[in-house]
Parts: sequence; C-alpha cells; structure tokens
Amino acid sequence: MKDSFNREIDYVRLSVTDRCDLRCTYCMPASGMCFLKKDELLDYDEIMFLIENLAQQGIKKVKITGGEPLTRRDTVELIDAIKKIKGIEKVTLTTNGIQLTKYANALKAAKLDGINLSIDTLDPEEFRVLTRVGEIQRVLDGLKAAIDAGLSNIKINTVAREELTEAEIEKITSFAKDYPIHIRFIELMPIGLGKGCPGKTQEEVMDILAKKYGDLIPYQGKLGNGPARYFSLPNFQGKIGFISALGHCFCDDCDRIRVTANGFLKTCLHMDEGCDLKQALQEKNKELLLKQIALAVQKKPEKHHFLEDQDQGDHRFMSQIGG
Ligand code: GTP
Ligand code: 5AD
Ligand code: SF4
Repeated sequence: MKDSFNREIDYVRLSVTDRCDLRCTYCMPASGMCFLKKDELLDYDEIMFLIENLAQQGIKKVKITGGEPLTRRDTVELIDAIKKIKGIEKVTLTTNGIQLTKYANALKAAKLDGINLSIDTLDPEEFRVLTRVGEIQRVLDGLKAAIDAGLSNIKINTVAREELTEAEIEKITSFAKDYPIHIRFIELMPIGLGKGCPGKTQEEVMDILAKKYGDLIPYQGKLGNGPARYFSLPNFQGKIGFISALGHCFCDDCDRIRVTANGFLKTCLHMDEGCDLKQALQEKNKELLLKQIALAVQKKPEKHHFLEDQDQGDHRFMSQIGG
C-alpha cells in the first residue's frame, strides 16, 4: 500500500484495549476514563479478519498496543494467531510490564518478536507517584521474566519528562551497558494529558549522557519498525535511541497506520483523519473494508502539526490511540 506521498505503508499499530492497570499522570486521569464497553471493542474474530485483510494489502508488521495490552484476556492468543497469518513477518508488543511475569513464557511460546517496556523512572516512590498505583519492582520482575523466558529484542521506553533527573537518566541507560537491551528516550508529545506537560529535549538528554560516557556515535542500522534514531556508546551492549517527534520530525519516513480498540483506522497519531471500520469488520464485509482502507490510506496526512496547532489534532487520549 502506498499513500499519496509515495510512502510504503507496511506496519499497523493495533490497540487491543483502552484500559490500563496504571494511571500515568501524562496519560490518564486518576479516575480512569470512560472506557469502551466489551461490545464496542473489536473482538477476536474481527481482529483476525482485519489483520488477514491488511496482510493481503501489504502490511507485514504488527505492533500490539493498548492502553495496556496485557489487561485484555486474549492478547497472547491474538499474538499467536496473528503470527500465523500469511504475510505477517513481525509481531511486537508495547507494555508497561506490570503483568509480564505472568505472561512471559506464553509470549515466548507465541513467538513474539519483541517487547517494548515502559520504564519512566526506577525510583520506587517516584514510580508510584507517576503511575499513581504502580510498583516498579513488578516491572523489573517482568523484565527479568522476559529475559529468562528467552524473549529477545527487548527495549525500554523512557518518556523524557522534565522531572527526569541526570542520575535517573544514567541509571536507566546503564541497562544498555549491562544487558543487550536498547533504551529509547521519548520526547513528551502534546496528546491528551501530555499537552502542556514540560519535557526534556533530545539534546538535553544527549548532553547528560555525553558528560558521563562520552559522545554518542550515530548508529545507521535499523532496530525496529518505529521512528527511533539510535546511537552507540563504547562498551555498551544495547543502543541508545531517541524518539523526538517535535525536535526531529520523522513523518517523511512514516510507514504506519493505527487501528484503535474500537476499530477506528487512524492514519496519523496526531490528526483525527481516518475511518471507522467497525461495521465492515462486524459484517465481515471484505469489499467495504478494502474500500475504506484504500480511501483512508490515500488521505493519510503528510505530517503532524504538534508545533503549529495542537488543537487541530485528535482529541483522543494516548491510551485510546495506543501511541
Ligand atoms: P519499534 O521501533 O518497533 O520498537 O516501535 P516503536 O518505537 O514505534 O514502538 P512503541 O510502541 O514503543 O512506541 C514508542 C513511542 O514512539 C511512543 O511514544 C509512540 O507514541 C511513538 N510513536 C510511534 N510511532 C509514531 C508515529 O508515527 N508518530 C509519532 N509522533 N510518534 C510515534
Ligand atoms: N508523549 C510521549 N510518549 C508517550 N507515551 C504515552 N503518552 C505519551 C506522550 N504524551 C508513551 C508511553 C509508552 C509509549 C507507548 O508511549 O510511556 O512508553
Ligand atoms: Fe497505562 Fe501506558 Fe498510559 Fe501509563 S502511559 S497509563 S502505562 S497506557
């Protein structure tokens, strides 16, 4: 599938739930939100019908997101089945890790190709304040369980919040020294509660790392499907990546679409462009589905407008989109 800017679209980010077992302050209100009801969610069969058809249109890579995808009961089953669809080459998962200990072995058995684990701070008290309910030890136990289960291609996502201290940046980065795990610092994006949240820039984080470890060396290889740009540090097993949608816009290389947990095909993280696929999926109406997908992909926006006009964007929260 190509969009009108000649970009090859071969990657879908599939949100399987808008629910989460954490309440990160930049993502969700303390009270939670008005969550989707069970009959509003795409069910197992609808998801399979969707991905089978997307694969026939050239989608090769699937990222499972949420909310928190491991709060949905059949997520492992879905991964297992999506992995078997003809044309799908890679299925990866982005998780907060709270339930990873429970699912690590099953995810390995399902042949999951990679895990991105969100760790915004390693300080137990600060983690609890940031997530409002979370225990960092559970996430670290989940990380260990994933390594022990033999899952490979593990990356850590750290949102570069203003409060992220120099010491914390160094501590999180040290995972990449001690293990073959890549760390990615993500610029805070003005989506949902992220609007108006101050954050650190890529350059600020790079300066902190350079002071401690020496200059970061640009790495040209590709380490995933996403927009991260990677750097090497001497004697580190993993790379250091940056996802900087505002400071280093990556829209020119965009290769992805998103589908929300209730079946809205979103063609850009920021913009409200796209199409509601729920009816076509419910009816298993292939002709309508393919028509809707083709039309939406043709209208995929050229780029986000984070810097120009934040109100022009989608009013969904990040947990309703899947990042
Ligand atoms: P891999 O490279 O395969 O590991 O994927 P990824 O880094 O894209 O996946 P992940 O779900 O871990 O996302 C990391 C961050 O990148 C999240 O904050 C996403 O919102 C952000 N991100 C992913 N794709 C896009 C995109 O197209 N545009 C913008 N602005 N942000 C994106
Ligand atoms: N800006 C940047 N990253 C965000 N995430 C959630 N909200 C935002 C935001 N406003 C991150 C999560 C997770 C990934 C999927 O997206 O922390 O690591
Ligand atoms: Fe949950 Fe992720 Fe949002 Fe945190 S950022 S509340 S872990 S969906």
